[in-house]
Amino acid sequence: MILSNRTIILGITGSIAAYKAAELASHLVQLGANVNIIMTESAEHFISPLTLRSLTGRPVATGMFELNSEFVIEHISLAEAADIVVIAPATANIIAKLAAGLADDILSSTVLATRSPIIIAPAMNVNMYENQITQSNLSKLVSLGFILVGPVKGRLASGEMGLGRFASIGDITGAICRRLGENGDLARRHLVITAGGTQEPIDPVRYISNRSSGKMGYALAEAARDRGARVTLIAAPSALIEPYGVELCNVNTAMEMYSVVNDIAPRSDALIMAAAVADYRPANAVQAKIKKADTPLTLDLVNNPDILDNVKGNFVRVGFAAESEHLAENARAKLQRKNLDLIVANDITIAGSGFGAENNEVVLIRRGGTERKLPLLSKREVADKILDEVASLLR
Ligand code: PMT
Repeated sequence: MILSNRTIILGITGSIAAYKAAELASHLVQLGANVNIIMTESAEHFISPLTLRSLTGRPVATGMFELNSEFVIEHISLAEAADIVVIAPATANIIAKLAAGLADDILSSTVLATRSPIIIAPAMNVNMYENQITQSNLSKLVSLGFILVGPVKGRLASGEMGLGRFASIGDITGAICRRLGENGDLARRHLVITAGGTQEPIDPVRYISNRSSGKMGYALAEAARDRGARVTLIAAPSALIEPYGVELCNVNTAMEMYSVVNDIAPRSDALIMAAAVADYRPANAVQAKIKKADTPLTLDLVNNPDILDNVKGNFVRVGFAAESEHLAENARAKLQRKNLDLIVANDITIAGSGFGAENNEVVLIRRGGTERKLPLLSKREVADKILDEVASLLR
């Protein structure tokens, strides 16, 4: 949502990773951005302007002196129209040019002419990346306010393993969203968000857990990041990818989550407990694998502490209520018992909503009784509605 109608210049330079820029461009367009592509001459050896024009539905700038351009003095008008400039992939060559302040092609000229924030995602051979000249050029750019995303370690085009691989599309998109949202309504706020289903060990190979995927909590973390918040995500095991620009604390059990929340939340502005925390754990997790036997097995369970009930401090408290019956009534009871400012009542019987789903249908109930029933929305949309309430509570 933060990218809706934002104008992004995507600068593509001559690296083998240039083909991945097509996926990045398409992803940004799908998120609602207007993507103006500028390619260097060497980038055209790796990917055709036609591919990028087809993906963005906009002209692709390839040279300083093109006739028939829709832009007047193209690099200046592109530079002025941009909310952000992203150079991905960025070669050692463009990095050196930018560090030297050169303006000898349309991309370097545009960068020099823009007042917008600039992100660079390097991709190159490990030796070129680790070369002191490249490192000192990068340090100079970072000191001037350029944002660096990646590179990451992995298999490079040369077949070597090392640092130099293009960052993921998710990380580059995350960096763009975070930078564009940094002055949002949660700027200078610290939010602690929990996600996923805790795992309570029975023996070294088995555990008790639930169907929470973590999607709701991760969506909240990304949405809060994109509104300027500093976010700590305390996550039970999940298959989801670590969100860019969020402090991730991995935990396994309810007791671990209890301890980390108690460490961090009291110094925060708001705690949002989207995690499905196991209410019980096996009384004795055994060290050796329990052998199959012909007799039934009985597990003794003991109560886990309630995290929301016990965490002390003066911050906005938001809980979820996952209910299969008497939704509003049960949620209101939890709101009171756990002394919350807001509860997100989650009817987990609705098809395509709740545990594991992409969407969620919830009712937001404030302390004091105001209720806001929302339709079935994506978890990211639900996250933003919850954060609207949190931002207003923080005001
Ligand atoms: O992860 P997803 O697949 O995206 O699914 C999202 C979700 C359905 C898990 C999420 O939207 C949700 O409803 N989370 C809360 C699930 C839950 O445990 O509800 P509860 O009604 O049992 O607990 C009420 C509140 O107390 C919750 O905020 C819970 O985090 C908290 N709690 C519960 C137990 C406990 N020991 N300590 C707690 O703090």
